[in-house]
Amino acid sequence: MKDSWIREEFEMNMIFLGLPGAGKGTQAKKVSSKYNIPHIATGDIFRNAIKNETPLGKKAKSFIDQGELVPDEVTIGIVRNRLKEDDCKDGFILDGFPRTINQAEALKDIMEELNTKLDLALFIKVPEKELIKRLSGRRVCEDCGATYHVEFNPPEKEGICDKCGGNLIQRSDDTEDTVKNRIEVNKEKTEKLIEFYDNEGILQTIESSGGIEEVFKKVTSVVEENR
Ligand code: AP5
Ligand code: MG
Ligand code: ZN
Repeated sequence: MKDSWIREEFEMNMIFLGLPGAGKGTQAKKVSSKYNIPHIATGDIFRNAIKNETPLGKKAKSFIDQGELVPDEVTIGIVRNRLKEDDCKDGFILDGFPRTINQAEALKDIMEELNTKLDLALFIKVPEKELIKRLSGRRVCEDCGATYHVEFNPPEKEGICDKCGGNLIQRSDDTEDTVKNRIEVNKEKTEKLIEFYDNEGILQTIESSGGIEEVFKKVTSVVEENR
């Protein structure tokens, strides 16, 4: 009891798994601000690079536009560098990485290099029909990247970001054909990852039925139980 007044620091390394549209980004942003740990989304890194027309953006663009995965050689290096930054020392949330077993193995090596380990792999499970509804109604802010949904999470003023006043647009990979391909490309790979992290003993699954806040309650209770 002696030290009970000292609040334990929050420190947790986690990954969010789930098919396109499952709500990884939505939940990761909320967890990131609640616990003050960085949210690292490979998709966001690529989209920023494309917007700024960097060499990385040029490499990634054609894959993303077709809903295919960016090659592991490119993606793994980016994540390795990002996780080595100082702000990841008290934990991080990876969203959209790993997506292949090769990436999962690489992440294990990176954790070893950094003398740490993953604490939680959270799988957000959503039926396929629901994924398509979520992706087709998604709108994102062209300036700050905030995410909305025309029906499930609408902005106060149609087409305008509540946070910064920027324009809301549809992601270029949220077209019907690309959405279908993204789901196909990721289905089997996601199943393999679930198996991988189940074997590692750190897998937790939540059913993402109910609205964003309801899911967030489930996510935080899993985080609290595993910290
Ligand atoms: P990425 O940006 O990661 O796309 P994704 O995996 O397809 O996932 P999304 O961002 O579309 O979905 P999300 O789960 O974040 O859902 P969100 O919270 O937005 O990757 C894009 C591309 O980059 C890939 O296709 C690939 O090319 C490349 N890439 C990225 N990482 C890579 C890697 N590791 N290796 C290789 N290539 C990689 O929610 C969706 C919508 O639903 C929103 O409108 C939201 O408001 C709404 N919503 C969320 N939760 C709920 C709820 N509970 N109820 C109702 N609506 C909800
Ligand atoms: Mg996302
Ligand atoms: Zn905005």
